[in-house]
Amino acid sequence: VKHLLDFQGWTVEGIQGILETADVMKEVLERPVKKVPALQGITVCTAFFENSTRTRTSFELAARRMSADVLTFAAGASSLSKGESLRDTIETLNAYKVDAFIVRHHASGAAHQVAKFSGKSTINAGDGRRAHPTQALLDAYTMLKEFGKLEGLKVTIVGDILHSRVARSNAELLDLLGADVTLCGPATLLPKELQKGRVKLTNDMQAAVKDADVVMALRLQQERMNGGFLPSMSEYALTYQVNERLLELAKDHAIVLHPGPMNRDLEISGSLADSERSRIIAQVEYGQAIRMSVLYHLLVGKK
Ligand code: CP
Repeated sequence: VKHLLDFQGWTVEGIQGILETADVMKEVLERPVKKVPALQGITVCTAFFENSTRTRTSFELAARRMSADVLTFAAGASSLSKGESLRDTIETLNAYKVDAFIVRHHASGAAHQVAKFSGKSTINAGDGRRAHPTQALLDAYTMLKEFGKLEGLKVTIVGDILHSRVARSNAELLDLLGADVTLCGPATLLPKELQKGRVKLTNDMQAAVKDADVVMALRLQQERMNGGFLPSMSEYALTYQVNERLLELAKDHAIVLHPGPMNRDLEISGSLADSERSRIIAQVEYGQAIRMSVLYHLLVGKK
């Protein structure tokens, strides 16, 4: 049974295979009829225990584009409110002969639990602050489409690194693929254990963005802060907002990314998010091709 829980156990070749197959899926999505039979007879369950706009919709569409059946579990309308556990919920859904689970959960490690409870291919769609591998894959793919390579790119990720599964998965993946990653934010939001390989930490925004090829802004994840941190939003924005003035320090060809959801004029200026440098909508678009590719690599040939 194949899983994508994080990048542990994945080789560079395996990851490159996903990025290459995404090109084929992108071509499918450009056809008048955006559908292939690759997953006919397969049932995937999107089990989202935490809200999502992009990840859930793109996974569901990706599965349907490949002719899979999709079982959507809506946590808010479920018997979780009556005290049902994660294990009983997954075992219930699994009884419908589901072939794969796509899981989002507020608890770090929940996707591993689902893989164990179900015995089925499991894709982590974001677990707590731990990992969000398909987001990192679509971010890497966006950089590849822009620059044709990842080796040697200077990628600066700015914001609430401490609470970010996107930062963790991007640092892990980009380091593996040869990019130089700088994680930047207030010292209280920079976990020291992330400094390894080619990944650096700094709270100096100017140094972090100087000569960057890619600048990614991250949201302050107040839902994971338990009332801690935060001086004030305006103070944070004064020092750590990604905006046009800051981008003058980056390379002339630098692009701006944001995984979403974004808080305009807090971690990123609205005008920069809408500017020619922004690839935020391209990230969303490529997310569908990447998720089709991930489903293909995990599930085709399964039956
Ligand atoms: N980037 C991301 O995970 O967005 P959603 O929370 O909308 O899925």
